[in-house]
Amino acid sequence: MNCVITGATKGIGKATAKLLARQGYHLYLCARNEENLEELKLKLEKHNPKTQVAYQVVDLSEKKQVYSFAESIISEWKPVDVLINNAGFFTPSEMLNEKDEEMEHMMGINFFAPYYLTKAIVPQMIERKRGHIINICSIASQRAYPLSGTYSTTKFALYGFTKALRADLRDKRVKVTAVLPGATWTDSWKGVDLPPDRLMQAEAVAQAIQNVLTLPGSAVLEEIVMRPQEGDLA
Ligand SMILES: NC(=O)c1ccc[n+]([C@@H]2O[C@H](COP(=O)([O-])OP(=O)(O)OC[C@H]3O[C@@H](n4cnc5c(N)ncnc54)[C@H](OP(=O)(O)O)[C@@H]3O)[C@@H](O)[C@H]2O)c1
Repeated sequence: MNCVITGATKGIGKATAKLLARQGYHLYLCARNEENLEELKLKLEKHNPKTQVAYQVVDLSEKKQVYSFAESIISEWKPVDVLINNAGFFTPSEMLNEKDEEMEHMMGINFFAPYYLTKAIVPQMIERKRGHIINICSIASQRAYPLSGTYSTTKFALYGFTKALRADLRDKRVKVTAVLPGATWTDSWKGVDLPPDRLMQAEAVAQAIQNVLTLPGSAVLEEIVMRPQEGDLA
């Protein structure tokens, strides 16, 4: 099986890449930092020599780079069985008092990149009558939190897109899943002083993603909502 993961060098993306590499998936990864990508590739291939890992340095906030990434996948790599639109970023914001560019930038990475990449890769899946698109949304796709308006808006958009995609692809044999994690220990939470158990581990989200992929036959897990045992922080 061949899987594309965006934002694969840290957090949830990295945990998922590790888990899928162990299962023997071939991976095509992207992020902005080349050193991290090369280091991860070597590590994953060492752990499972049967896994082939390719990568491209991509800034997903740049539309041209997203389409060029898609073009490399389609023309130079393998047919894609699974696309995981994982890359995204969060920064606290006062939505109504920030520059327009803040919303435009976050929308670019959190919403437009998955939209462009999916549009470019899905025709191949439709033609092969197989494929699975997994979009990493957030609990902020369903509920707005204080000082997270910009992020929440982008994640509502991604969630809406995922639902629309599911409806459009129902009769095309392409599965679509929205994963909505709550607070998960990653770089986004660097420096936050909370007990380890208060947030989920990235490995738990990766495990859920793997479960989504192991469902047999025509069954689709349409969405997964995950939270730490003690619930939301806000
Ligand atoms: N952590 C949470 O609490 C939480 C909760 C709910 C949902 N989520 C969602 O889960 C997903 C993963 O989050 P995470 O916390 O695991 O993130 P993370 O640890 O901050 O890692 C983000 C990954 O994306 C890459 N990336 C960031 N900006 C990029 C860009 N412009 N172009 C290409 N790659 C980029 C990063 O690598 P480079 O820096 O090298 O580019 C890194 O590999 C996101 O969509 C996030 O919104 C996270």
